[in-house]
Amino acid sequence: MMFEIVRYTREYIDENVDLYIEAFHEVYRKYNVRKEFQTREGALEAIFLLQERHPGSYSLMAIDPATKKVVGHVITTVSVPLSSPRTPGQLSVASIGPVSVSPHYQGKGIAMKLMQALCEVMDEKKVDSLRLMQDAFNPISFSLYLRSQFMPKEAISILEGMPDPTSIEHLADLEASTLIRKITLDDLDACDRLYGQAHPGFSRRLDLETELKTSKICTSFALIDKNTQEFVGYSASIPGHSVCKTEDYFKILFVRTCHLSSAEKDEYNRKNGKTELTSLKEYFYCPWTSHPGLLKWGVECAKLKIWRNETHMVRGVYCVNPEMTYIPDCFQ
Ligand SMILES: CC(C)(COP(=O)(O)OP(=O)(O)OC[C@H]1O[C@@H](n2cnc3c(N)ncnc32)[C@H](O)[C@@H]1OP(=O)(O)O)[C@@H](O)C(=O)NCCC(=O)NCCS
Repeated sequence: MMFEIVRYTREYIDENVDLYIEAFHEVYRKYNVRKEFQTREGALEAIFLLQERHPGSYSLMAIDPATKKVVGHVITTVSVPLSSPRTPGQLSVASIGPVSVSPHYQGKGIAMKLMQALCEVMDEKKVDSLRLMQDAFNPISFSLYLRSQFMPKEAISILEGMPDPTSIEHLADLEASTLIRKITLDDLDACDRLYGQAHPGFSRRLDLETELKTSKICTSFALIDKNTQEFVGYSASIPGHSVCKTEDYFKILFVRTCHLSSAEKDEYNRKNGKTELTSLKEYFYCPWTSHPGLLKWGVECAKLKIWRNETHMVRGVYCVNPEMTYIPDCFQ
């Protein structure tokens, strides 16, 4: 069967959301996994952010020529706008996902074709690194990505719950030397510098900037050394990525921002007449190949539960500084 591979355009947003829900709900049902989004509105918001709001958005769709319906897609955001010139030494990352194929069309090579086409474009545009989070319960997507030259780099457990504040009691002195405040657009340089220490050559400035400009409520926070005024950590809107100088700084930042942002989200929901309150649940993508101690702390001390496991997979350049604590989000 032949399929057309075309670039995503705005008029397909609803079809893309429906396709995502159809494909993922089927796989969650098959493996008995809780859904990522409980409502269509939640899925639409996430897909809209990736396909419409992010300046580095680049998605491909597979169209069935007989019905003209979208039967597959791979949604991608690139860390630098593909149209603008690159500064020397600046490396770029494409964050891939979700990848969905309609259950009626699976097993026909559509995802493989989409991945091949995407990798060709990214190679042509000289994107240095392609990254994704693979659902560890799903052997099909693992084979798909391995065959597309992605390699597993890190095992991740998504932890959920509200961290127990007593889990950072032993860090009281360190906590007293810091302050936490919300990130604004003026802090992008400081965040970028910290990110560059964790991932030399790379930047998530565009992701952070997009989030600060588009989020309805800002739940991105910086951890600052009171004496030097230096950023020792930041966290992009939970469950966004975080970068910290040490694991202990991360523990402080995570526990405090969970409580601060949960209260804020509840307040926002209350004001907007939403009954589903968020308190008592936040998420943390724990990279336990590089930070096994954080997994132990998260489960035993912070009393978080493991929701599900993921595999961070990369094609191309991957360099992390083991001295830093980098907590990924669902993309990289
Ligand atoms: C994962 C998914 C996108 C694959 O789409 P697809 O079009 O059916 O995949 P393809 O037919 O191109 O197959 C790609 C590779 O996957 C593997 N694969 C496909 N079907 C498989 C099966 N039933 N069992 C084991 N491996 C399988 C094979 O390695 C195959 O390559 P090959 O045919 O060269 O051996 C699709 O199953 C899907 O949408 N699932 C739900 C959403 C999801 O889980 N997305 C990925 C999240 S990490």
